[in-house]
Parts: sequence; C-alpha cells; structure tokens
Amino acid sequence: MPQQIFLDVDTGIDDSLAVLYLLASPEARITGIAATAGNVPAAQVAANTLAILDLGGAPPIEVALGAAEPLAIPLRTTEDTHGPQGLGYAELPVSARPLSARTAAELWVEKVRAAPGEVIGLCTGPLTNLALALRLEPALPRLLRRLVVMGGAFNHPGNTTPTNEWNIHVDPEAAKEVFDAFSAAPADRRPLVCALDITETIEMRPAHLEALARAAGSAPIEPVGPGHHPGWRSAASDPVIRYLTDAVRFYFDFHQLYDLGYLAHMHDPFAAAVALDPALAVTRPATVDVELTGTLTRATTVADWAGMWGREPNADIVIGTDPAVFFDRLVTRVGALARRLSQEPA
Ligand code: RIB
Ligand code: CA
Repeated sequence: MPQQIFLDVDTGIDDSLAVLYLLASPEARITGIAATAGNVPAAQVAANTLAILDLGGAPPIEVALGAAEPLAIPLRTTEDTHGPQGLGYAELPVSARPLSARTAAELWVEKVRAAPGEVIGLCTGPLTNLALALRLEPALPRLLRRLVVMGGAFNHPGNTTPTNEWNIHVDPEAAKEVFDAFSAAPADRRPLVCALDITETIEMRPAHLEALARAAGSAPIEPVGPGHHPGWRSAASDPVIRYLTDAVRFYFDFHQLYDLGYLAHMHDPFAAAVALDPALAVTRPATVDVELTGTLTRATTVADWAGMWGREPNADIVIGTDPAVFFDRLVTRVGALARRLSQEPA
C-alpha cells in the first residue's frame, strides 16, 4: 500500500523537487497539500504548487491556501533566493486545477482525521499552518503516523541569521507550538527533523542535472555553469528537465553569490526521501525548543541532547546520511517520471 503523505510546502525551488520526488515515487500517495507563505506569499506558493502538479502529471490532489501571515509577525519572503515567482528562472503555465475551498489548517485536520495513524506529515516550509491545525485538533500528534520537518539548525550555522534557519525564522512562534505539541508524543511518533546540519550536506551540482537529463532521455544535455547569462534558458526536449534546469540554475547562482560554491542545497527533496524511507537517516533523540525572546538569537532552534532541561525528547534529529544514495534515488525516480510523461500521448 502506498504511504499517505500530507505535504506542507512554501514552493520554492527545492520544494518543487520534493513534490516531483513524491510524484515519482510509487510508494507515495500525496493526500493533500498546504500552501504556506514563506519563500513567496501563500497565493504564489499555491500557484507554483498547482503548476508543478501539472508538470509532474499528478492526479487530482487537493491544495489549500494557508494563512497570509505568520502567527505573530509580518511575513518575510525571499525572492532573492528562489526567484521573483519562487521557481527560479523557470516560468510554468498557470494551472487550471482549482484551489480547495478549505483553509490549509482545515485540510491538515480533515486529511489526518480521515486516516488515523496512517498519514505522514511532511513540512518543507514554515510551520504556520501546522500550528493552526494543532490549535484546531490538539490530537494531531497522535493521529499522524509520523511528522517529518525540514527546518532548524543545531550544531550548525543558520542560513538566515547566524543561528537560525529560514523555515523557523519566518514563523518561530509556530515552530515552538509544533515542537511543544509533540512533547508528549511516543518515541515512534517523534518528529523526524532534517535541519541544516544534514541538508547542507545534500549538495546538488550541474552533473546531477545532466544525469537527470540522461535518465529522462532528454536532449541536448546542457552543462550549466557560473558563466551562463541570467537570460539563458534551457532548450531541453523534456519539459521536466527544462523546468529543473531553469529552476535549479537560479539556485546555483544564489549559492555561488554567497560563496557556497556553484551548487544547491536540496533541503526539501531530502526530507521527502526520509519521509518515504527513514532508513536513509541516522537520527538522535533530543528535546527541541525555539528561542523567541533572544535579541540576537530569536528563532534559533535549541537541542537538549543530554536531558539537561529534564524534559523528555520531542524530536529525532537526523545526524547522518549518505548524500550519494539520496541523489541516486532522486535521479533514478525523477528521471524515470520525466521519461514516462514524455512518452504519454499529448
Ligand atoms: O532553509 C531552507 C528551507 O527554507 C527550505 O525548505 C527552502 O525551501 C526554504 O523554505
Ligand atoms: Ca521550502
């Protein structure tokens, strides 16, 4: 039986690869998607997500619009990281798929109540709408089969301030409500946390894009590099490869601009791969809390690994993985999806 995944995204470039990875994975069935404001505003997240579902040949999947703002502070977006629309240099046709009439929080609750103990929640954006869902249904931690969160930084520098990571930075109050809500969760229901400590080891490079193009049977193979003019666009024959090349190249340019190298950290598809196969990750339990009042450290995730606070662990933090295994799965699965879609009658 496929694993039911409820996805909460702020689509963005790497979020879109997480969606494609799940669509390309036969063991996954996306039961619903929450569009959360983060990389770009919620309405743009929803439009991007619907367009990616079209690109990936998805069946009908309910996508619900999330809150316009975080719980307690104004929304901050990051178009400089993900591009003006959130998909890098890529531009996709506007989808005809309808948005849900429900809110993202209502969709979270409805989908999890409908399949108690079966749904894996996967959050690759700020936790605003999961926090709102927990306010609607405090039993969510027990009703979910598992929660996987891409977010936070522990023994690792932040990517938004010196100590905090983007998804938590956008809505730290929501993140605290989520980690507090899972404080009473049994050990096998503790959130699996993919923080920057591990996701910044998942370094996509141009060779991975070329491998995806080969796996898809796309032509020509387009070796991208830092010398490409921003106005250059892929002429790949395969539409998924064309999209990935134009989207990820923006991410390569961004990482290069910040002296991280001509590469792209694939935070969200890695979290998706862990959601489908936790054996990809070595984890260590900890008690996680979120700083809300620090002058310099607000929105920092803090892990008590040794029980100094006297509180039970509320998270399993990913501390190890083999990035090559992940990239092999990404290339094999998304490449096969692209090839399959291009062979289907128009
Ligand atoms: O810090 C990385 C995370 O923030 C990723 O999920 C990226 O998409 C952004 O949402
Ligand atoms: Ca994201």
